[in-house]
Amino acid sequence: MKATCISGSQRPNGNTASVLNEIFRALQERDIEITYHCLGEKTINYCTGCKSCYTNEKCVINDDVPGIIDDLLHSGLVIMASPSYWGDVTGQMKVFIDRCAPCCAADLTRQFKNAEIKGMAVAVRAGQNKKENENLIHTFEHFLGHLNIPLISYLTVEGIDMPDDLKNKPEILKTAYDFGKSVIPLLNI
Ligand SMILES: Cc1cc2nc3c(=O)[nH]c(=O)nc-3n(C[C@H](O)[C@H](O)[C@H](O)COP(=O)(O)O)c2cc1C
Repeated sequence: MKATCISGSQRPNGNTASVLNEIFRALQERDIEITYHCLGEKTINYCTGCKSCYTNEKCVINDDVPGIIDDLLHSGLVIMASPSYWGDVTGQMKVFIDRCAPCCAADLTRQFKNAEIKGMAVAVRAGQNKKENENLIHTFEHFLGHLNIPLISYLTVEGIDMPDDLKNKPEILKTAYDFGKSVIPLLNI
């Protein structure tokens, strides 16, 4: 099975990436092949609201977004992840989601529906309150719902902020690995 992960982190090797790497490790043990897109490394322009995608089924902007959408469409599993910025997904992730408007046009909607993709979501934050991270999960669930991708499982991680924080909290990485393992029976592979 192919999986595509999209992370809203600005830091390709930051806390979100460290958590994701443990999830990837668990999935790769079952031969799931992962394509990882860290939006902080991509060129993603704002949606201009021109709505030409409503009729033309594609975006007029030529940047990294169409390639990422193509990876999503050709995956059995999609993993959406983001650190919390002001209690929601990062601006980069929100801009990416806005640019997925062509996925709501008839042809791509049909293709996503037929692809029967499953979805996972991961939220990471510095503070301790899980409820804030659940805002991010709701944002992802809403996005995936429009792509006909059911959210089958999610993980929230609280209490990591600075680059070294995870060094002192190995239990978080174990939780992430165990979360990856727990998803495998839900994938029907
Ligand atoms: C602009 C900005 C806003 C943030 N807002 C929040 C927030 O509202 N709540 C919170 O718990 N952490 C917040 N954080 C902390 C990040 O969620 C935290 O540092 C996270 O571990 C970063 O993940 P990364 O290493 O993948 O970038 C914010 C960080 C930045 C840079």
